Amino acid sequence: MTQQLAKRIVQWLLAIVIIAYIITGFGITEYRIVESLTLGLLTKPLAFKIHNNLWIPFVALLILHIYQGTRDLPTKN
Ligand code: HEM
Repeated sequence: MTQQLAKRIVQWLLAIVIIAYIITGFGITEYRIVESLTLGLLTKPLAFKIHNNLWIPFVALLILHIYQGTRDLPTKN
């Protein structure tokens, strides 16, 4: 796997996790709207559970993302 592909995968996964954070956040505060929009799939307790646990992939992906972004920065001299 090329480094470029690995970067792309991490970038997309990070974007998905951030979107999931926002959706599940509204799934807690605006659960009536979110429940009906998701045909009853994303209930308030489920949104709460997901929102509370998303920090694990979020932190892991953020660390990977920063690592990949700083690895090939130009160095002095
Ligand atoms: C990138 C976006 C977001 C991130 C990184 C984020 C992260 C977090 C974290 C770390 C917590 C604490 C969880 C815990 O107590 O262990 C939390 C709680 C909470 N978030 Fe978010 N959040 C995001 C977006 C949102 C949005 C858009 C909403 C609502 C519109 C929202 C609503 C809530 C609510 C209501 C709680 C409290 C749940 C409780 O009562 O414990 N979040 N969020």
